[in-house]
Amino acid sequence: MNHFYIKDNRLYAENFLVEDLAKEFGTPLYIYSKNQILKNYREINQPLVNSKLDFINCYAIKANSNPEILKLLAEEGAGAEIASGGELYLAHKFGYLRNKITFTGVGKTDEEIEYALKENIFNFTVESMQEVKVISEIAHKLGVIARVSIRVNPDIDAKTHPYITTGMKENKFGIDSKDIIEVFKTALKMPNIDVIGIHSHIGSQITDVDPYIEAVKYLGDLIKKVEAMGVNIRYLNFGGGFGVRYKNVLTHRYIPFEEDEIKEYASLGDHIESVIKLLSVYNKKLVIEPGRSLVANAGILAGKVLFIKQGEVKKFVITDTGMNDLMRPCLYQAYHQLVPLNLKDTGTETVDIVGPVCETSDFLAAKRCIQRLERGDRFAVMTTGAYGYSLSSNYNARLRPAEVLVDGDKYRLIREREKVEELHY
Ligand code: LLP
Repeated sequence: MNHFYIKDNRLYAENFLVEDLAKEFGTPLYIYSKNQILKNYREINQPLVNSKLDFINCYAIKANSNPEILKLLAEEGAGAEIASGGELYLAHKFGYLRNKITFTGVGKTDEEIEYALKENIFNFTVESMQEVKVISEIAHKLGVIARVSIRVNPDIDAKTHPYITTGMKENKFGIDSKDIIEVFKTALKMPNIDVIGIHSHIGSQITDVDPYIEAVKYLGDLIKKVEAMGVNIRYLNFGGGFGVRYKNVLTHRYIPFEEDEIKEYASLGDHIESVIKLLSVYNKKLVIEPGRSLVANAGILAGKVLFIKQGEVKKFVITDTGMNDLMRPCLYQAYHQLVPLNLKDTGTETVDIVGPVCETSDFLAAKRCIQRLERGDRFAVMTTGAYGYSLSSNYNARLRPAEVLVDGDKYRLIREREKVEELHY
């Protein structure tokens, strides 16, 4: 069961009415379900435990780095995939063990590399020839050995939004096939570099297993080639990317059903089982870096209708929740289901649900068929636990939302709404 559900025409977060939380803490408000996060984590982790494979499950903390969520997953035993020195600081502060922290990213600064080497994290995922040389130099200066995995760009279409596909030739990520062997050769000769693995992350919100199958075949061939050169590949890092459902998350007679181009969604368990099956033949220590799949459906963003405006060609529902709170619709034309907190039989209409920010791209939903809304009505933007708050900003000097964590019959504020005074620090 999902921990956000409708009962008696009202939306609940675990044991609480979302409306009550929205009234108590105000809107916009991120609400997370602790038990949904745990359920997601266990659904991915348990098959790995059962497989008896050696593995590290590194949460991609960019998806949601609220300290309480970080702590929760660290306590469950997760490692962390980090993409900056700031994320390393957070991972370290909130309980992730050094030997489970892996650092990815095409543009690590010298300071970040030095910081991570001093922290003795278990792996740097290297994305260019120049980077491996710089890591080697800094490791030499510090008198340490850097453990690295080389990230390949296998030129595979992950069939996701172009902005979140990462494994194609035209993307900046990883090292192209034509150069990859050369990078392994160079790295092998460096005394301060220990090449421990191969990394591949082909994109995010992948709902089809075919691109994964293609990536695994590619990795299999590459492993053979580099092992023949004398590299001892011990880690196979498959990145993250498991897709989640955004459409028709909740169904109800007052919520219009949306046509979905994705016909079948693999469950998290199915996703991971297929990855295990594909990767177990290589007999390597497996690293995965799930982000979205752990937290997306464990969060919602509650907002309130400010005004209704009938334009000449469209009707606008103007809300207090904008692109600075949730960037995904404006950045990726992402679809998020919108659910009124009180479902009523008022009939439906097609409207643009927009935010208050001074940008035409500031919308939560365009041409959306939804129950007729009025000033003061509250609603939830569903599936916003991943890349919601973490992509939020202060644009228009707006204050970042508050965040609440619900756990059965308890809830607590896990981040206060920003205050105006904080805007000038
Ligand atoms: N590993 C690496 C190297 C990554 O770059 C990412 C995500 C992940 C793991 C986690 O991927 P996930 O399991 O969350 O798909 N802001 C976009 C998504 C950007 C993903 C960036 N990299 C969105 O809101 O859709």
